Parts: sequence; C-alpha cells; structure tokens
Amino acid sequence: MLIKRRRGWELPENRVTPEGIYLQRRDLVRVMGLGAASLALPGIALAQGADPSAARYPAPRNDRYGVPTPMTAEKQATTYNNFYEFGTDKSIWRDAQKLEVRPWTIKVSGLVEKPFEIGIDDLLARLPLEERVYRHRCVETWSMIVPWTGFPMRSLVALCKPTSGAQYVVMKTLSKPSVMPEQRDLLYPWPYTEGLAMDEAMNDLTFIATGLYGKPIPKQNGAPLRLVAPWKYGFKNVKSIVSLEFSDKRPVGFWEKLQSQEYGFWANVNPKVPHPRWSQATEKPLGSSERIPTLLYNGYAEFVAGLYTNRTAEKLYM
Ligand code: MTE
Repeated sequence: MLIKRRRGWELPENRVTPEGIYLQRRDLVRVMGLGAASLALPGIALAQGADPSAARYPAPRNDRYGVPTPMTAEKQATTYNNFYEFGTDKSIWRDAQKLEVRPWTIKVSGLVEKPFEIGIDDLLARLPLEERVYRHRCVETWSMIVPWTGFPMRSLVALCKPTSGAQYVVMKTLSKPSVMPEQRDLLYPWPYTEGLAMDEAMNDLTFIATGLYGKPIPKQNGAPLRLVAPWKYGFKNVKSIVSLEFSDKRPVGFWEKLQSQEYGFWANVNPKVPHPRWSQATEKPLGSSERIPTLLYNGYAEFVAGLYTNRTAEKLYM
C-alpha cells in the first residue's frame, strides 16, 4: 500500500495540491462514469432536525477576537466545501448528508492520565458553548468569515488530562469507507489526520466548532465537531473528529504525507511566503469577485505570533 501511495504521488508538481488533486481526481471520476448527480440525498435542514443538541444554539457571542466583516453568506459556506472523504469536488454537501453523527464517540488516548471515550452529547453537556466570528483562509486562496459555535480547545484538553510528556495533540477524522467513498481510494493516507503543538492547542483562540450560523454544524462542514485554528491554512482544521491522541512525537498530517514540500506541520498564514506554485499575497472571499490582501496569521498575529518566537528554525509558514 505504501509503495502504491508513493507511486501515486510521484506526479508533476502542478498536479499535487488540493486544487490539483481535485482536478486530477475529477477527471478520473468522469472517466469512470461516476458523479455526484447519481446520489439523491436529503437536504441540510432535514438532516439537522435530528440533532439532539439543537436547543443549545444559538449560543452567546464572544467577541474578544473581533467580529470581522463582511460575513460570508451561509449558503456559500455550506455548499462550497473541502471534505475529500466525500469527493474531490467542492460541492460535496449533498453527499455528506449520509454521514451519521449520532451516536458519535470521541476516543482520548496516548499521554493522558487515563484513556477514555466520551459521547458527543456527554461532552457538550460538560462545556458551555459560545459563538465566535473567525476568518478562514484556505491554502488554495479562497477565504470566508463565518460564525462558529463551540468551545475553546483548551477546555477539551483540560478534560483529557494530558501528562507533562505530551507535546502534541493528534486528531483524526472518522474512518467509514461505506459512507465516505473516497476512503476506498488507497492513494490517500486515510484517515485525515492533523495535529497541533500543545501550546497551540492551549491558546484561547483555538476552537472546537460544534455549530455554524447559530445551529448545529452541518455535516459538510465537519459535524459533529471540528478544529478551528483560524491563523493557519484551512487544511489544519480537521473535520468530524473521532480521536485525540496526546503524543511526544510530531504527527505528519494528511497533506504533509502526500506532499511535504508544499504542506507542512505549522501551516501559518503568511502573505509574504508563497506556496511553491502560487502567491499567497491575496485571497478571494467566497461569494466575492474581488481579491483582497491576505493578513499575517490571517489577522490574528496579536494573539498567536508569540507562539513562534522560539521556533524560528522551523518552516512556520508552509
Ligand atoms: N477535514 C477532513 N476530514 N477532510 C478534508 O478534506 N479539508 C480541509 C479542512 N478539513 C478537509 C478537512 C480543508 S483543505 C479546508 S480549506 C477546510 O476543511 C474546509 O472547511 P469548510 O468546508 O468548512 O470550509
């Protein structure tokens, strides 16, 4: 499998990016005669009606980190998505309705006082929810501003009780090829995995989203819980999390495994550091026809730049 995966990614450089992968995979899907149109699935509103946590939304807003504007239209943010498990197209939202988000168990393991599992509703019952409006910047240069509901990641870390040896927290997406068809494609290093250094996870800006636009988070956006680290490129924000493992080893994320020269561990937004094949100086907000300047740390430098002052030897911006 490893050899097969390596061969698959020994591709010309211009084809190895989320966008390049999307185009390449879309061609393959077309050749195979498959397509999203073959799946008739229920809409967003119907699927959300079944969520037992619905009464927790909307939650009070916390504007400590500002309220950037203009807000992206809900329809844009919930119908233009990256969730490769469901397909390499941006319009996977219908397909994602197949994901069952109850029951949903999160496994906590590794360097913790005591490993445990917790159901999403037990977890939600323990933590107050709040809303935060954050910028989101995809490495592909599109961006959005959306109101997430959830809790600071540090509250979740506190419940997990990591030991002093923990240096990283590794998060993984559900593995369920029967529902997530791309997971049958072994050219990708499933399950989708991402990680943060412990001080990043403990920074108050780092958020676990369980809601979006004052409602439970739609499946296509990562239900029932996803990471939101708004100063990093969007690929760090792992969706539909089923496990947190505390480790003393730096994890290698999904995209880093595929193409380490282009996608690194830190992945902090910096308009002055181009992607190897395109500029990161500007971005295109979803729903807008005009590009706007990208901000250092996506506009959150005052809250997070201090995390990196002692890490100057690292590749912080890729
Ligand atoms: N998480 C999983 N499991 N699978 C993915 O394909 N894509 C990432 C991130 N999290 C991805 C993921 C990328 S590249 C981006 S930009 C964001 O999700 C997109 O989040 P959104 O669809 O809610 O805008």
